[in-house]
Amino acid sequence: MPVILAIESSCDETSAAVCANGMILSNVIANQTIHEAYGGVVPELASRVHQQNIVPAVQQALSRAKVSKNDIEAVAFTRGPGLLGSLLVGVSFAKAFALAKGIPLIEINHMQAHVLAHFIGDQKPSFPFLCLTVSGGHTQIVLVKDHFDMEVVGQTLDDAAGEAMDKTSKILGLPYPGGPLIDKYARLGNAGAYRFPEPQIPGLDFSFSGLKTAILYFVRDNVAKNPEFIRENLNDICASVEKRIATILLNKLSKAANLYGIKDVALAGGVSANTGLRVALQNLCKERGWNCFIPKMEYCTDNAAMIAIAGYYKFLKGDFTSQDVAPLARMPI
Ligand code: KG4
Ligand code: ZN
Repeated sequence: MPVILAIESSCDETSAAVCANGMILSNVIANQTIHEAYGGVVPELASRVHQQNIVPAVQQALSRAKVSKNDIEAVAFTRGPGLLGSLLVGVSFAKAFALAKGIPLIEINHMQAHVLAHFIGDQKPSFPFLCLTVSGGHTQIVLVKDHFDMEVVGQTLDDAAGEAMDKTSKILGLPYPGGPLIDKYARLGNAGAYRFPEPQIPGLDFSFSGLKTAILYFVRDNVAKNPEFIRENLNDICASVEKRIATILLNKLSKAANLYGIKDVALAGGVSANTGLRVALQNLCKERGWNCFIPKMEYCTDNAAMIAIAGYYKFLKGDFTSQDVAPLARMPI
């Protein structure tokens, strides 16, 4: 019954979790609000705040799980992909903890962990399944053949879906991070009010840069005619943009499911917290008779519980990492 401490520090969330025998006992997430003033994550500030947050986050995770440092049998940590300075804090902490306690280290790929968040709890997808992983840095359709046998069958050629959400919110003059605000205003708006273009990209790949430019010109032209345009139509703009992003994502997911004959489909990553996307996927699954897997809100955005569950499956395989491991800004699945 391995008791695993997990650390996540790939971007701007410092998170620590404890799991025992694959059950999550605690999941502490310290958000970094300092970036709001800059309209995006400032890497240098992120790593400094991780340094301040990491020890209290781990202490809280241990105390909420009611386990002591001496009960921990392995340390799982995010090796990449992510911001190098941010990753370095988590990797260094994990290495020091494992060295001090004489226990194994387990490196985890952050994007695999988003997918493996579906193995927290009782309702688990069956292999092979498709996972649409949509975050601030990635947009991927992943064919998941086993816990660590994953193939990216479609991905974005430019911006990620979360980036499209965040950039839209910036165009609309909303603060960072924009995704949750687009979600909030979209709930009050009419998704059919404005029609934004769907990019015509062959195969299973995505592109969001053309949509971003279309939104930018649409807003600029309308504001030139009516300076109050954004304020008067914010809810409808957010609802229409959100609907278009969800349609782009789900059309490709449908295509992939047909191509691979898959019936279990899952959503993962920060954008999977989006209400419109969650509802649209649930409806699509009902229509097609697919089994739908959507993570709990706390496991959508970056969190260490998903690192812990991934660590648990690696522990069972005896797949450990040496002390000379270094973080990787880029780390393919
Ligand atoms: O997975 P994540 O927490 O971090 C990365 O690994 O990138 O994803 C963050 C992204 C951001 O772009 C954020 O705006 C978006 O997820 N996001 C949302 C929502 N919550 C977070 N986008 C739309 N609706 C939401 N409710
Ligand atoms: Zn993430």
